[in-house]
Amino acid sequence: MKMNELKLVYFSPTGATRKAVMETARGIDLRSVSFDFSVYREKRPALKFAHDDFALFGIPVYYGRVPALFMEYLENISGNNTPAALIATYGCREYDDALLELKTEVERRGFKVIGAAAFPAEHSIVPTIGSRRPNKADMKTISEYGIELNRILRKEDSFGHINIEIPGNTPYKKYGKNVLFPKADSGSCTLCGSCAKVCPAGAIPLKEPKKTVTSKCIGCMKCVRVCKQKARSVNSLKMSIAERKLKKICQSDKKAEVFL
Ligand SMILES: Cc1cc2nc3c(=O)[nH]c(=O)nc-3n(C[C@H](O)[C@H](O)[C@H](O)COP(=O)(O)O)c2cc1C
Repeated sequence: MKMNELKLVYFSPTGATRKAVMETARGIDLRSVSFDFSVYREKRPALKFAHDDFALFGIPVYYGRVPALFMEYLENISGNNTPAALIATYGCREYDDALLELKTEVERRGFKVIGAAAFPAEHSIVPTIGSRRPNKADMKTISEYGIELNRILRKEDSFGHINIEIPGNTPYKKYGKNVLFPKADSGSCTLCGSCAKVCPAGAIPLKEPKKTVTSKCIGCMKCVRVCKQKARSVNSLKMSIAERKLKKICQSDKKAEVFL
């Protein structure tokens, strides 16, 4: 089918999902436009995609689900029988119901899912889990995923008959509650505000960047990663408990999975 434009719609606080989305997009022979929801937007933009657009949705798995914040953006996005592909990156525990949930939600909004993939990545809370993933072999699988999607887009005249099976269960896993709130250390914080500017949840006041509004914080760890002074961190006791728990249930040798 003759296609118009590739729409990249993603949420990627610590960059792994973005990397997978961009590598996949490299294989797709279309001009692309990005909608990156990893930076806070007070207004959720209303986006309408055409039947000859191709949408690539990318999310990190949070608590085995689609991040709640991304779901808020998705509410305002609609397709017109628009073909779409999905990417979920996860921190080597499990992706549980996240891909199934994403497929169900985008199809409810007028998209037709023709491909989906789950890629293990460095764990954004404990980066020693799955460290340096996606690795070379993962990147090859990711790149082949893009090439295969491109082939399907070129080959098919319509996508209605495509029905891909994705693992997952309903009712979906219960959404977890964040208890890891990064805060700034008074000594090293220079009040530069770079954490506040990039927080996807708007949880750090620009005028008081040492603070975190815990009712808004989603624990994505973006502020910890961007702080050049390394001033932001989670309470060390809470972090070591989380680390111990995660190290027991994550396996750094998880395989990339593609569903076409
Ligand atoms: C709040 C939160 C919940 C998470 N839940 C899961 C999970 O259920 N399973 C898993 O394997 N990884 C989980 N992770 C790890 C992320 O899915 C993973 O690191 C992802 O690649 C991060 O993507 P990003 O770099 O694009 O932000 C979680 C991370 C955070 C911050």
